Amino acid sequence: MGFSLTLGVTITCRAAIAWKTGSTLAIEEVQVDPPKAREVRIKMISTGICGTDDHAVKGLLSVNFPFIPGHEGAGIVESIGEGVSSVKPGDKVLTLAIPQCRECSSCLHPKGNFCEKQDVLPSSGLMLDKTSRFTCKGKKIYHSFRASTFTEYTVVPEIAVAKIDAAAPMDKVSIISCEVSTGYGAAVNSAKVTRGSTCVVFGLGGVGSAIVMGCKASGASRIIGVDINEEKFPRARALGVTDCLNPRNLKKPVQQVVMEMTRVGVDFAFEAIGLSDTMIAAWDSCHRSYGVCLMVGVASSNSQLSLNAPDIISGRTLKGVCLGDYKTRDCIPQLVTDYLQNKINIDPLITHQLPFDQLHKAFELYHAGKT
Ligand SMILES: NC(=O)c1ccc[n+]([C@@H]2O[C@H](COP(=O)([O-])OP(=O)(O)OC[C@H]3O[C@@H](n4cnc5c(N)ncnc54)[C@H](O)[C@@H]3O)[C@@H](O)[C@H]2O)c1
Ligand SMILES: [Zn+2]
Ligand SMILES: [Zn+2]
Repeated sequence: MGFSLTLGVTITCRAAIAWKTGSTLAIEEVQVDPPKAREVRIKMISTGICGTDDHAVKGLLSVNFPFIPGHEGAGIVESIGEGVSSVKPGDKVLTLAIPQCRECSSCLHPKGNFCEKQDVLPSSGLMLDKTSRFTCKGKKIYHSFRASTFTEYTVVPEIAVAKIDAAAPMDKVSIISCEVSTGYGAAVNSAKVTRGSTCVVFGLGGVGSAIVMGCKASGASRIIGVDINEEKFPRARALGVTDCLNPRNLKKPVQQVVMEMTRVGVDFAFEAIGLSDTMIAAWDSCHRSYGVCLMVGVASSNSQLSLNAPDIISGRTLKGVCLGDYKTRDCIPQLVTDYLQNKINIDPLITHQLPFDQLHKAFELYHAGKT
């Protein structure tokens, strides 16, 4: 693909902008600056809608407006800034909401993946040099986690770019950049779900479904799925959920029902919604002694989690997990290769594919619980 015409110049293209908290996204003409040193400009091919985008647009997370949302994306490198060595124009890449700088305390630790150069918690909406690469109608537009993807072109730091297999189908693999790595990785890489184990997954959206896939692939014998939207149940069952629960139809708290169903509590519980109540329910669904509870959902800014304090000594593990605990640049490209080699199948996680100008429709389907 030839990008020589755009090299070094500002590109004018379309992007979706969240102008203010809770407003619907507006597709606008934006200017995208060339990449500065150690930055990459990418022509976006596909993007997914992640629950975190919805939280950000609604103002549940602390982000700066106006901004270009999206962080789950697949694209082709258009140009690179000075000093970029890991990708070149024409490479297929994924954007990464959590970068991997390979220099900070998290990156250097064998278990860490929450790179200090991330821009999610807290979110400045700016590149590492504290400036933006987007302008619309003469106004500065903020980035989303330094990975804005609801745009035809984006600029991201090199440390937030994962080069993927040249054979990757670009209309599909965008979901590997967040949903699949987050959910599948939470089960397989972070919790290390064991064969024959019992699991419960709170929230059967994109991330919860990928968690179910990971539990199933790990050989879990029972997977309980919890969601208030029963339309999610048939697909969840197809992915491996053995029992579906709608907390709104239960006479008792859902954790009590899970306890009764499993007699002793589950081996692994996952929360993939982002509410403190369901986080507590997930924690209380675990076996008191050896249960492991993974918090995957992103809770709203400044919300608190309150647990019964004396009970904490019984031995359960509570763990937060971001992007499946993967060191993002090192590990996420392998998931794309695994997909190409039929080791994982992400196809059932894709419910709709729409052209960019129908992003509103995509959000409508998402809000209607159809995705
Ligand atoms: N930790 C990470 O790295 C990471 C990465 C991506 C997304 N997330 C977070 O994961 C969560 C899920 O993301 P998603 O893209 O799957 O969102 P989603 O909106 O597709 O899924 C959420 C699901 O939860 C269900 N739900 C809502 N309220 C509920 C309740 N009270 N009880 C039971 N079910 C309920 C919804 O019906 C929906 O099916 C979000 O909070 C998102 O921010 C975290
Ligand atoms: Zn995401
Ligand atoms: Zn780092």
